[in-house]
Amino acid sequence: MKKTIITSLFTLLLVACGGGSDSTDNSQSGQQKDQQNQDTEVVFDNLSSLAEFPIGVSVPAGQYANSILNSEARKQIVLQHFSQISAENIMKMDALQPNQGQFSFNHADNLINFANNNGIGVHGHVLLWHSQVPNWMKSFSGDKQQWLTMMKTHITTVATHFAGQVESWDVVNEAFLDNGLYRSIGDSGSVWYQNIGAEFIQEAFVAASQADPNADLYYNDYNLSSSSSKINAVVAMVEDFQTRNIPIDGVGFQMHVTSSYPSDDTIKAHFKKIVDLGLKVKITELDVRMNANSQHQQVSDAILKLQQQRYFDIVSAYLEAVPAAQRGGITIWGISDADSWILNLYDQEDWPLLFDENFNEKPALQGVAQALNND
Ligand code: XIL
Repeated sequence: MKKTIITSLFTLLLVACGGGSDSTDNSQSGQQKDQQNQDTEVVFDNLSSLAEFPIGVSVPAGQYANSILNSEARKQIVLQHFSQISAENIMKMDALQPNQGQFSFNHADNLINFANNNGIGVHGHVLLWHSQVPNWMKSFSGDKQQWLTMMKTHITTVATHFAGQVESWDVVNEAFLDNGLYRSIGDSGSVWYQNIGAEFIQEAFVAASQADPNADLYYNDYNLSSSSSKINAVVAMVEDFQTRNIPIDGVGFQMHVTSSYPSDDTIKAHFKKIVDLGLKVKITELDVRMNANSQHQQVSDAILKLQQQRYFDIVSAYLEAVPAAQRGGITIWGISDADSWILNLYDQEDWPLLFDENFNEKPALQGVAQALNND
């Protein structure tokens, strides 16, 4: 592990521009520690060399115009800094089984070959989700048993195909609402819940475990670091699985967060709830919105400095709350700001990631490095 530290006038200057902790609930000692680390720049060639656990990034591939396989700039960043990838879209249900019984693995195989050939691991995303479901599945007609068979066929075929090539899977994504109830009806309802009931979740985990006994199996969701109802629902689900020997190895916290919400203390407390169950905690989709209130027309040094502090605080919270043996890793949801899904989702300017639209390193990258180097 490379841990060279030099004092940096650059970061000292940026601290003076207002880079204090953006959360109000830090302890005094925490603030002092943060301040101390903002004053030193970590020199590193390779971000992932600073961690003992996977440092991942989600990548576009396949038919997407910004595929890393066709972009030297993106490819170089992945090769230089990351030890794991997640496919941003091409391993979702609609991509892998566009028509019933017709599996389409070519794009994903190409991406995984690239990863394997370069010593980069793969986190599988995602076996089962209510979104990006192919149309034929949405309009599938059958009784509960037929739905279960159709669901398990997808999971078994996909997990068997990639067995030995993925380190872990998001088995089920976003089954709960923020109020802790199962996602069921409505615009973003779940066809799985509607047609099978809550047991679709355990059936998905059992099928994944049978198909690939060696991969770590995660339940993945957003707002787990902020909503207590949602994290408590996941805790109850895991406890129930544990009493009935349903396999589950970890919980994926997506962590699409803003510059100030949720607080560091809430994030830590929510990680700890999963740690206490003996499961792994993985940050699966980290990005930090800096323009959630649409107040900025363009990015500034002060915004970038605040973001550096926020990335530092989140990674520090992870390291503080999650013991080494339970760290599944940290994945950033995208390479460059230009490609971030956040810009499309909210249809406005934002700068959520570690590299800017010209693929230059941002202070946020240094924030992650400082926190990792501290461990
Ligand atoms: C997003 C992708 O980044 C977008 O390109 C796509 O249009 C929609 O999905 N939670 C997840 C991810 O689990 O799969 C989502 O990815 C972001 C939210």
